[in-house]
This record gives sequence, C-alpha cells and structure tokens, in this order.
Amino acid sequence: MDITEQALRKALSDLPVGGIRFLEQTGSTNDVALAWASEGAPDLALVVADEQTAGRGRLGRKWVTPPGAALAFSLILHPVMEKAESIALYAALGALGVASALEDNYNLKPEIKWPNDVLLKRRKVCGILAEAVWLKNWAESVVLGIGLNVRAAAVPAAESLNFPATSLEAATGQCLERIKLLHAILTSLIAWRPRMESSEFIRAWEDCLAFRGEQVQIWAEGQPIRAGQVEGLDRDGGLRLRPLEGEVFSVRFGEVHLRPV
Ligand code: ATP
Ligand code: BTN
Repeated sequence: MDITEQALRKALSDLPVGGIRFLEQTGSTNDVALAWASEGAPDLALVVADEQTAGRGRLGRKWVTPPGAALAFSLILHPVMEKAESIALYAALGALGVASALEDNYNLKPEIKWPNDVLLKRRKVCGILAEAVWLKNWAESVVLGIGLNVRAAAVPAAESLNFPATSLEAATGQCLERIKLLHAILTSLIAWRPRMESSEFIRAWEDCLAFRGEQVQIWAEGQPIRAGQVEGLDRDGGLRLRPLEGEVFSVRFGEVHLRPV
C-alpha cells in the first residue's frame, strides 16, 4: 500500500505522536524535522517521506531512498537527556528500537553494527542518523532519522556501497507493509526511550551486537586503525575490544567506523 498522510494518521492514532508531516518527495526528512524542531515542534513529531533526493548518512555521506521502496522518517524528541554523549545514545535508541521491532514482530534476527547500523544476515538493512538542534551549548531537541530498506529496489548498487546492504524483502521473501513497520518501530522506540540510561537498555543492545567474539577493526576519521575482538559494551555504551596484545579497551561513541577483519 502507498503511504499517504491520511493512512499514517489513521494507523498511528493509538500512539502519542506529536504531529505528522508526510512528503511524497523531499531532500532529507532530517532537514525538514530539524527546521520543524527549531520552530517548536512537539515531542514525538514525525516527518515521513516516500522518496528522499538528498538523504544523508553520517559525515555527509549519501543515503539512497528511491520512491515506493523504503521507510524514511525522522522523529523529533525533546527534552534531551543531559549527559554529554546523549546524542550518540539516541542513535543507539534508534538502532535498538528498529532491531527489537523486527525481532518481536517479524521473527527476524537483526544485529546492531556498533554504533548506528542495523544488519540482517550481516548486511546493512537500516541506517540511523541522530542530529541535535542546539540552543547555545545545550541540545534542545534530537532528530532521530531512520532509513530502512523495505523492498529490494531500495538497495543501492553494490559498487556504490562501503558495506554490503540488503532489504527486508530479500531477507524475508515478502513485501512488508511500510506503515505497519513504522507503527512497530515507533512503538518500540517509545517503549525503550524512558529506559535509555538503564542497564536493561545496554544489555538489550549488547544482546543484538554484531561480531561479538570476532575480530574487528575500528577507526575514527583521520585516526589510526585499532583492532580487537568484540567483547561487548561498557556501562555507557562504549564498545569493549580485546586486542591481541595488551589490555581490553573501550571505544567511545563518535564518528567511528567498524569493519569485521
Ligand atoms: P561506516 O560503517 O564506515 O561507519 P556507515 O555504513 O555507518 O559507515 P554511514 O555514513 O553511516 O556509513 O552511512 C552512509 C553509507 O551507507 C553510504 O556511504 C553508503 O555506502 C551506504 N548507503 C547509502 N544508502 C544506503 C541504503 N539505502 N542501504 C544501505 N546502505 C546505504
Ligand atoms: C547512516 O547509515 O549513516 C545513516 C543513514 C540515515 C538515513 C535516514 S533516512 C531518514 C533520515 N533522513 C536522512 O537524510 N537521513 C536519515
């Protein structure tokens, strides 16, 4: 079924969504949501697009969203947790929200590639981009942008990717209903949000962590590559790695890249 604003309003009427904007085509739902947030959008205001012409990933990378094939939305959240690293924790909320929704409602086994991607069968099916609206030096709102490849047509050509990608259609053999998926993901995000600082949140995230017990390489832009075996998460959501020699170390949130060795 095509997404329409009317269908969204009806399907999401049992959730405490703060407002809904649907666009057939837009540059980036995060840009629309950032503008709306700075004009005072309510908590849980939602921007959904059928197609994005300038979808963004981290570090200004492109996120491809062709028409009729993906779920692309941005959720405005405020107030924002005070912890300095809270913006990155919102990306984790997005990843855990999507992973739990896929597991609980569609019997899939998603994994979270730390810090911000959801994988199915070791391929990226969903990307998350959390961005803040800053007032002086505090984050007034967070825009949580989520892009999920629903149909096979959503997946870009392999040569344009820096990590293998997939879609829910390829993983399940079915064309899942996008509005139902959105309902499941929002339900899960709303349920996890009040527990973002709890050990239960970190445990659930760790349970979905990809490459546990495996060797990975990790690096921040312009920094040397570090390698180690993935042990799990620390209490703040940092990634714990055991190098071949030396002490276990934690990698903190940030613009960090991770690849299996
Ligand atoms: P890294 O793993 O290096 O941290 P990432 O995969 O998290 O990177 P991001 O910048 O977060 O990279 O995401 C953008 C990247 O996602 C793009 O560079 C492109 O390779 C890939 N990409 C773009 N559109 C899609 C899509 N629809 N599905 C899967 N991957 C995509
Ligand atoms: C990533 O993998 O780096 C993040 C990709 C995030 C894509 C989503 S789609 C909805 C929202 N609008 C954007 O421009 N980006 C996010």
